[in-house]
Order: sequence, then structure tokens, then C-alpha cells
Amino acid sequence: MGTKRRDFLKLGLAGAALSLVKPSQASELIGVAFEDKVKGPIVISTWNHGIAANAEAWKVLVQGGSALDAVEKGVRVTESDLTNRSVGIGGMPDRDGHVTLDACIMDHESRCGAVGFLEGIAHPISVAREIMETTQHVMLVGAGAKKFALDRGFATIKTPIPEVKKEYEKWKKENKDVFKKPEINHENHDTIGMLAMDAKGNLAGSCTTSGWAFKMHGRLGDSPIIGAGLFVDNEVGAACASGLGEAIIRIAGSHTVVELMRHGYSPMEACKEAVNRIISKHKDLTNLQCCFLAMDKNGNVGSYSVFSGFNYALKTATDEKMVDASYTRNWD
Ligand code: GLY
Repeated sequence: MGTKRRDFLKLGLAGAALSLVKPSQASELIGVAFEDKVKGPIVISTWNHGIAANAEAWKVLVQGGSALDAVEKGVRVTESDLTNRSVGIGGMPDRDGHVTLDACIMDHESRCGAVGFLEGIAHPISVAREIMETTQHVMLVGAGAKKFALDRGFATIKTPIPEVKKEYEKWKKENKDVFKKPEINHENHDTIGMLAMDAKGNLAGSCTTSGWAFKMHGRLGDSPIIGAGLFVDNEVGAACASGLGEAIIRIAGSHTVVELMRHGYSPMEACKEAVNRIISKHKDLTNLQCCFLAMDKNGNVGSYSVFSGFNYALKTATDEKMVDASYTRNWD
């Protein structure tokens, strides 16, 4: 690409911004300023269950479909997986035995939809999209969300499924102290967050979970909260979160990651800085696992977590793999 006037203008803007960022980020900023080529399509999603979800999302992306369709279709695979104990139909219940599902979705025009505390509906992510596309609202929860889903003809499910009910009964027997803090770690990895860039270079994200196993009835985590569990700004990038929702909400985690990328941080550096903020605001890090995954407007990706064990699935035209996130602390 020849040097054009707009490139000088961009370089001028980037040059002005360079004084705001640390030196290690300067070359990335200039790179962004000159980079017109989009590396999409690309899809990334949290944890091992991301592999199957990415494969479904890829079918959409490879046919020239939108990032929005991809991130909805992708995570529906995880929501349908009866063996998955942290997302969708096979999810673990709250301490009263109810499986309550949370999800949100956001597209390249900053449209967003969310659903929380939803019981008995198979695909909360699609309910979130329906709210986004057909109502004036962003978020519906509880009985109102259920009524909306039923009115719109969404498929119902009976939860907990029998295997989960057995696990719950066992937990109840062993945990007479209902206020005991349940663990969040790599053994019960929660949430699928998915970020995609389509062939046009547009970004979208989705996030869906059954939340913290044995949570208090009525609890919402970060996953249905735009800016906490997920945030997309098509001019900058997208981020999603997994882990202890309460800690992620306290720093508006995914929004923080995107804002850091806006100011020149790479996706990995942005995720690390968000993790650092979480660490600095919590005196006790016992079992406090939080993970961030991010993609910038040029298709660069990065991740970071408080503790070891977080990984994400990546799929491009030439690559399909699991990637281990960098982290601050080992579990042991
Ligand atoms: N990150 C999922 C939750 O805390 O519910």
C-alpha cells in the first residue's frame, strides 16, 4: 500500500497518542495506524468446550456469514451439551436446586441483549438476541424473561437434568452450611465467552453460563452484564470474561479490557492489566479465579488469568488449537 494522505493523518493521530502510552506499546500503535488489512475471519472462545463451539461458529464465518450469527450459533452448541456442568441445559443448580441461566450478546453496531435468572429455556443466548433485535430493552430477567421466551416460542427444558439432580442431592447432604463459599477453579470452569471477527472485519461476542454452582437463589454474575462478562466496540476490539463474576463486575472487566486496548494496550496486556486491578482490589485471592479473553480490531488476540489453568480455543482459516493463558499465580 502506497503512502497516502490519510496514512499521514493516521500517523499524526497515532503520534499524538504515543505520548500517552508506554514505549513498548508505541510500535503496536503505529502498526494499527497503518494496518488496513483485516485478518478475519477468526473466532476464539473460553475453555476446552470452545473447540466444538468454534467449529459451529466457523461454519457461519467460512460462508461469509456475520460475526453475530457465528457467536450465537457457536455457543448454542455448549448450551445443548448435557455433559457441560457450567453452561446451559446440563448446568449446575443454585443452592435451592434451580438451574438459572444467564447470557448476553453484542454486535458491531454496539447493539446488545441480555437475559438473566432464566429457568427452563434451552437457549438463553438466543433469547438475549431476540431481546436485542425485537424489543427496546437490553435485559430481561426472571419470570419476565421466561414469559418473553415462551411468548416468542423458545424451546423449554426440564432442569436440573437427572444426573445433575443426583449431584445436587449429594452436595446438599454434604453441605449443611449453605453459606459456605463454593469453589471457582479450573475444575468447574464456568461460562463460555466467544468473540468473532467476520470476513467484513466486523466483531461480535456472546457469553452464556449457568453461573456459580450452588449460588444463592436470585444471584446474577457477570455473564449477563454488558461491560462485565462481555463488551464489543467495533472500532477497537472485544473482550469477554470467565471466572468469579462478583470480582469481574467490580472492575467492569470486559469494558475495562476494551478501553485499555483503545489506549494502545495489546489484547494480552489489556487482559493482564484488568487481572491486576482485580488482584489489587481483593485482599483474599483464595479460589478467586478470573480470566479475560480479548481480540482487537486487527484480529490480534490475547488472554490472561489470575490463576493458572485458563485456556481458550482459537480457530482461523489456517489454525485450530487450544492456547494456555498467561497468569499471575499458580494454584499450588
Ligand atoms: N462468570 C460466571 C459467573 O460468575 O456466573
